[in-house]
Amino acid sequence: MKVEIKAGICPGTAQIFSALFLFCCIFMPIPAAAGPYTQSIHGNGAGVNRSTISGYAAGNCSHCHDQHASIDGEEPEPTSGSASPFALFSDNFNDAIEMAPYAMADNFCFYCHIAAGGVQSGGGITNYQFHVTFGGYTTNAVTDILGAFNLDSYHNLYDIQNFAQDKFSFFTPVSNPCVACHNPHLLKNHKDHPADPTYTTISRPTDHGELWGDEADERMSNYTSYRPPYYYNSTTTYEPGGVALHDGSLTTDYNAFCLDCHQFEVPVTTVGLASMNPNTSAGHLTAIDWSAGGDMHGQRARLFDVGGAGSGCTGTIIAPYNAAPVKSNYVLSCLDCHDPHASVLHSGANRPSTYLLRKEINNNKVDGCGPSVDNFCESDLCFSCHTNSHAGAQGCFNCHYHGGVNINCAGPWVGPNF
Ligand code: HEC
Ligand code: HEC
Ligand code: HEC
Ligand code: HEC
Ligand code: HEC
Ligand code: HEC
Ligand code: HEC
Repeated sequence: MKVEIKAGICPGTAQIFSALFLFCCIFMPIPAAAGPYTQSIHGNGAGVNRSTISGYAAGNCSHCHDQHASIDGEEPEPTSGSASPFALFSDNFNDAIEMAPYAMADNFCFYCHIAAGGVQSGGGITNYQFHVTFGGYTTNAVTDILGAFNLDSYHNLYDIQNFAQDKFSFFTPVSNPCVACHNPHLLKNHKDHPADPTYTTISRPTDHGELWGDEADERMSNYTSYRPPYYYNSTTTYEPGGVALHDGSLTTDYNAFCLDCHQFEVPVTTVGLASMNPNTSAGHLTAIDWSAGGDMHGQRARLFDVGGAGSGCTGTIIAPYNAAPVKSNYVLSCLDCHDPHASVLHSGANRPSTYLLRKEINNNKVDGCGPSVDNFCESDLCFSCHTNSHAGAQGCFNCHYHGGVNINCAGPWVGPNF
């Protein structure tokens, strides 16, 4: 049975769904040959298919929701022992876990988005990191979502849940932190169509009922001077997915998406995860200002030439940004530098975190610079797009961080540093 989720039939807001309520809600026979759910990757023949139940076609709601907390009188595997919120087959999220490592049972999504040992029939689901799927990097540190969230720096699921619950009305106290960014009833298979954003997987937390990126005005081409980074191992093709076109029209506007949360100072409970920014409130991360009055990598116009003419602290900005036509004010995407879930870089002693930073940026593998700094040298991250000559190898983030201003290089300096 294929059904469409329709407003008016199912209340969508802050309620914990009893199994019976969800039963009425889901199994009302609504014909929906081409509804958004059946077009989602979960809702079609290649979609959800829990190996512990039988009698339901792939894509059926029952692969995620147990209709009466039981099917045919018995609760199928996995069993949570009691009715789970939203009548899901397991508890949505274990909020006793305030930080990684996470185990499969800590999050409903991990039961399938795990390399092996999950409940999806046919085995685990392979998902690479963003800089691999969209950036073309060829070495995988992890191949599933559970593994990503267990890396050195990761989007802390407990903190996301708390923050989203405070800020967004659709998000309930028992909602899944993944659902702050993804709508499981709508999301598509972007990984197999990386250059086609109509296959987007994300929904803005401020607009959870819609996909984000699928429409032309939801792309990086909204900014007049976005230029996507090179695809790995190429200086002729670009992200996403290795295409020649590089006007931003194939890249989701991730800035608007991330800023739904990061325009605010977000709280962190992870021990030791202090901000590099001394002006940020204790226990929080810096509110990111990507406007014309904010960061240089956002909409604020840069001060110097890409060729490096200017004060003693300047360097050049390298290809593709120095290629004609050189724009006077590039706006970067958050995901040119960050991975959305996690980072494979190791923080070492130099900094409190690796801030979800990508291992590969603009056709550059971000490397270490000496035995004490393991696999991550700060200057090598910057050298993905810049050259410079005013500092050594490390300590760059002491002066260059989001919101950083008025920090000298070698002489007087008034203005932004990042
Ligand atoms: C019952 C198993 C199951 C559960 C539970 C599940 N998924 Fe999936 N998911 C799938 C399958 C199957 C695919 C398609 C896999 C493929 O394309 O290789 C998929 C695909 C996706 C995709 C698109 C990328 C891709 O791999 O194609 C995203 C994003 C996604 N799921 C997110 C989630 C989130 C978030 C949750 C929890 C709210 C979740 N999934 C729970 C089975 C599941
Ligand atoms: C639903 C709200 C939400 C959205 C959307 C969101 N974040 Fe976050 N982010 C948080 C919260 C809460 C934290 C603090 C908890 C933590 O450490 O992960 C955080 C932490 C971070 C950190 C610091 C992580 C660390 O361990 O040092 C970075 C970097 C970051 N986010 C980048 C992004 C990027 C890039 C995007 C867009 C792809 C994004 N965020 C989207 C809520 C959000
Ligand atoms: C990939 C797993 C998955 C599939 C398949 C799925 N759901 Fe859900 N559903 C969820 C999750 C997870 C939630 C909890 C959302 C949250 O955490 O806030 C949910 C919540 C709901 C809700 C509560 C309101 C909301 O949207 O948050 C309704 C109603 C619902 N699902 C109906 C359905 C129906 C009807 C189908 C089939 C047409 C279906 N679901 C298929 C995972 C799934
Ligand atoms: C802060 C927002 C955020 C959170 C939280 C988040 N994701 Fe994602 N996720 C993203 C973004 C952004 C992408 C890139 C997708 C795109 O452009 O379509 C992505 C991609 C994915 C993909 C596709 C990966 C591929 O193969 O390309 C899967 C699967 C996925 N997320 C599952 C999850 C699961 C499961 C959770 C919770 C454990 C989760 N996500 C939490 C933002 C988030
Ligand atoms: C993905 C490419 C990329 C990475 C990585 C990157 N930058 Fe940039 N940066 C740029 C671009 C492009 C501009 C020009 C922005 C503009 O035109 O407004 C810029 C501008 C700047 C400026 C302002 C220059 C001026 O003329 O005022 C500073 C300072 C800067 N970057 C420092 C850094 C540091 C330090 C790092 C490493 C922590 C870094 N950048 C990493 C692409 C990048
Ligand atoms: C003591 C503070 C300080 C430290 C440490 C520092 N910088 Fe800078 N840096 C500055 C100042 C001030 C500027 C001029 C600001 C601007 O260009 O907007 C600057 C400018 C730059 C630029 C100029 C970009 C352009 O296009 O002109 C780059 C690139 C850069 N720094 C990289 C680095 C790297 C890499 C490191 C670490 C090896 C580093 N900086 C360490 C203060 C510092
Ligand atoms: C040019 C590369 C680059 C881009 C583009 C970029 N970031 Fe960052 N981000 C960094 C670096 C480097 C750090 C670590 C230094 C610091 O704390 O600012 C960082 C740190 C962060 C942090 C942690 C801040 C803290 O107080 O600890 C958050 C949150 C974040 N970024 C979010 C974003 C969002 C949201 C966007 C897009 C609007 C974005 N970043 C774009 C390079 C980048």
